[in-house]
Amino acid sequence: MTAQQIAIDGPAAAGKSTSAKLVAKALGYLYIDTGAMYRAIALAALRAGIAFDDADSLTDLARRTDIRLESAGDTYKVFVNGEDVSEQIRRPEVGNAASPISAIEGVRQILVDKQRQMASSRPVVMDGRDIGTVVLPQAQCKVFLTAKPRIRAERRALELSQRGLAADIDEIEADIIERDHRDSNRAHSPLRQAEDAHLLDSSAMDIDQVVATIMQWAEAEQ
Ligand code: DC
Repeated sequence: MTAQQIAIDGPAAAGKSTSAKLVAKALGYLYIDTGAMYRAIALAALRAGIAFDDADSLTDLARRTDIRLESAGDTYKVFVNGEDVSEQIRRPEVGNAASPISAIEGVRQILVDKQRQMASSRPVVMDGRDIGTVVLPQAQCKVFLTAKPRIRAERRALELSQRGLAADIDEIEADIIERDHRDSNRAHSPLRQAEDAHLLDSSAMDIDQVVATIMQWAEAEQ
């Protein structure tokens, strides 16, 4: 039997969402990008001018904000209160805002509840930082996907330039290192490898090798 819940955690730009989407497609599972949900709240907070350390207002915002993840074929879209924000949430400033906002316990509780609800009715591949440790601790297949910071920066720069956005590799690398540090050292659900997660360092692997490795693990788990 193939694992019914596959959790892929790891630092920024390690290739989690690309590989998670491909694994979900191959298995016919639902793909849930939890980082997109934190980014959606960050975008709403930037628009509303809420300070990133205003825990009460941000928790209230998370409670009031309707986030929907939709997939159609190979396209994945994110809606905030009915508006398609799929492109906007990928901007670097939204990613940078998502990091301090995701450290707020109230925001996490609300999004974790939504994530568990989404995973309750169908087999899923879910990616994030705390999926194997907090959101789906019972997931049969857990992967901690990482790569060297410079390599992650190069991959992210390529992705940004392909979308026509400016990309300075040194700046992206510095952002990635800062974000990893913040995500790994926060009090609530810090980024860490679950004890029963497979460690996968993709520094010297291409995406097909990453997907094939995850598929082997998923197919071997009960
Ligand atoms: O994976 P990403 O870059 O889209 O994530 C955006 C931010 O959200 C990142 O700083 C970490 C945070 N995040 C989190 O705290 N927990 C998750 N399950 C997913 C993302």
